[in-house]
Amino acid sequence: MVFVHRRPSWALPERLATPEDAFLNRRVLLKAMGFGLMAAGALGGGLGESLAEAADPTADLYPAKKNEAYKLDRSVTPEEINANYNNFYEFGTYKEIAQEAQSLVIRPWEIEIGGLVDAPMTIAFDDLVRKFPLETRLYRHRCVEAWSMTIPWAGFALNKLVAAVKPQSGAKYVRFETFLDPSMASGQNSFLYPWPYVEGVTIEEAANDLAFIVTGAYDKPLLKQFGAPIRLALPWKYGFKSIKSIRKIDFVAERPVGLWEAIQPSEYGFWANVNPEVPHPRWSQANERVLHTGEVVPTQIFNGYGAEVANLYKGMDPATLYM
Ligand code: MTE
Repeated sequence: MVFVHRRPSWALPERLATPEDAFLNRRVLLKAMGFGLMAAGALGGGLGESLAEAADPTADLYPAKKNEAYKLDRSVTPEEINANYNNFYEFGTYKEIAQEAQSLVIRPWEIEIGGLVDAPMTIAFDDLVRKFPLETRLYRHRCVEAWSMTIPWAGFALNKLVAAVKPQSGAKYVRFETFLDPSMASGQNSFLYPWPYVEGVTIEEAANDLAFIVTGAYDKPLLKQFGAPIRLALPWKYGFKSIKSIRKIDFVAERPVGLWEAIQPSEYGFWANVNPEVPHPRWSQANERVLHTGEVVPTQIFNGYGAEVANLYKGMDPATLYM
């Protein structure tokens, strides 16, 4: 795939941009020097966490080789900013859930993949993560709340997993489900939300190269607040489609109803493709605040990934791409 990259007029001034290569090389260097885990622990806040990370049986998989096809027009969001500004309603409805999310127990962690497939599987995360080679991709991440980040995700294309389970012809959608355990995730005691968190895509969207299963970020296994041990990244869609901490993947005939769509269908649709022309009923989507610079920049159709995904929606009225 050739990723055509044009520098838009609002691109960051040179002095603000940390070249991604420099960022990634620094990580590789730290790791080579044996400082990777220590540095990671310091970022997360202490010795306890660095020891826990040292024990992560998948730590050897990172840093994953960078896929150069995915370039960005802005600098990477520093990890400490990203790791302290999250949406993970299972642990609270505010952005500072990082501490609360540490109660997420990620081992053992099984993922059940089934429904309309010829080769269903129930597989431990630690085995799944070694089934396909991991790669690092720099992706933009645009929340429906009009802020954005840029993230070095590591993982593998969702289409590899789709191919492995051999979907049947009746499989039209892929439905993802997060864990359900109110004793571990205090937010799941709230009756305001129809837990567990669910999201879905069409089988064609799942087959698109951009749809990414994420197992790591910033050159190490996913932090809990990012949706450890395994989440989705769909960079052309609003962030709520990128479901965290996946337990179950089903291939289904009917269009799944996501958690947000179930709560408020007039505000959060199934497609949720980033579209600056279609305002959210309560605010504009024309611009976004780049979280780590504070700059307000124009939002791009499909979050700038139109060359990769626009063909998925040929013939559809652009105004419906959001709902
Ligand atoms: N997945 C689960 N299970 N629970 C959530 O609350 N929030 C969504 C999405 N996936 C969410 C989730 C929303 S609204 C966004 S913007 C992104 O995760 C946030 O991802 P981040 O915290 O890594 O930026």
